[in-house]
Amino acid sequence: MSKKEKLSTEAYKGVRDFYPEDQAFFNYLVATCRDAVQRFGYVEYHASVLEPAELYKAKGAENEEMVNEQTYTFIDRGGREVTLRPEMTPTVARMVSGRRRELGFPLRLFSIPNVFRYERPQRGRLREHWQLNVDLFGSKSLASDAELMMVAHDLMFAFGAKSSDFVIKIGSRAFLDELALRHGLSPESSRALVALLDRRGKMPAEEFEVKLEVLGVPLSSISGNEEPEEVTQVLQLLEDVGVGNAHFDPSIVRGFNYYTGLVFEVYDTHPENNRALFGGGRYDNLTALFDDESISGVGFGMGDVTIRDFLAVRDLLPPYIPPTKVYLVVTDAELVPFALGIAHELRTGRVNTAVDFADRKLGDQIKAATKHKIPFVIVVGEDEQRSGEFKVRSLDTGKEVSLRRDELVGYFTTR
Ligand code: HAM
Repeated sequence: MSKKEKLSTEAYKGVRDFYPEDQAFFNYLVATCRDAVQRFGYVEYHASVLEPAELYKAKGAENEEMVNEQTYTFIDRGGREVTLRPEMTPTVARMVSGRRRELGFPLRLFSIPNVFRYERPQRGRLREHWQLNVDLFGSKSLASDAELMMVAHDLMFAFGAKSSDFVIKIGSRAFLDELALRHGLSPESSRALVALLDRRGKMPAEEFEVKLEVLGVPLSSISGNEEPEEVTQVLQLLEDVGVGNAHFDPSIVRGFNYYTGLVFEVYDTHPENNRALFGGGRYDNLTALFDDESISGVGFGMGDVTIRDFLAVRDLLPPYIPPTKVYLVVTDAELVPFALGIAHELRTGRVNTAVDFADRKLGDQIKAATKHKIPFVIVVGEDEQRSGEFKVRSLDTGKEVSLRRDELVGYFTTR
């Protein structure tokens, strides 16, 4: 590398750096998710981002597009094929299966992992995103399907959304299986049908019809069909608790092969964000990868990128509030030890305080505080040292108050 050629400061394609304001939003997201799902009795788990590649290739669970085109897979130094998880569901199924004897059922679990997919980066789609995963194991009751949708609904409200901001679209894999059976489709063709329906919105109508015909399914049999009884029951349960923005949508099929029952997606109703915010459904057989006896699961994933877009277009993003409350600007480097003493007192009083080391002009020190969005500065100079009186300036209002040293902690604890 020649001297002039410097490394790029950009993050790897399709992933994000989290500068403090981004991280603050992320922390808000995590806190909001935790609070909302814990209210329903879900408990948090976590796992490594590294998984053996076979977890995603195993028959019955695989998603061809995901495995062949989207996984980040490499060979480790011991010759093992390793994948950066593209989703959390196989991992949680593995974990639940591994401790099936000890864990109590129904088991309610959630996690907020980062997942990796080699996709073409675009609005709402990146190569790394964080995904809230909420899953319930060990119940086949339709009330558990409904519960997951209630969690999704309440979560949206926790972010400040209204009913009209999003819709819950419910589809049925069981319906599709029936359709496949009626048309005598082989298991391969029936998977191809699911993949085709999942990609329907991404291709011209004619192409869709031709592909459907090749599979031997007439267009008439997949459109205008009746609401399955299971969907009606779930919609009733939802309505009983005031969730009124859910409906049956036969075009919701979901791209993963592991789904077996109802599937659902939460959609943003804003025209700029026509993407799913949540996707999920029932998967009866995923744990059968690890054990003969399988435990039924139902759950969903919600991504941080799409929810952020959702909040941004509605002006629902929380304002950035830095954790630091006070910045001590120091007129002379010789006064730094004195300033450190004041800072120590403030910190002991639980007031988050940062100190400037006085290697720049006072104005520049204040500018730094403004850039950090710290709300208060205190000038520490010789006068202050002599008099024991300090000027506290609010950077929001420009107002100043004079306080004695022993009044400082008290002043900030109420602000
Ligand atoms: P998924 O539909 O692939 O489902 O992802 C769930 C959500 O993650 C999407 O609705 C979207 O918000 C977000 N998401 C997906 N891919 C990306 C991407 N490339 N960039 C940004 N956000 C993205 C699953 O992953 C299932 N494993 C969910 C599940 C949990 N099913 C049962 N339990």
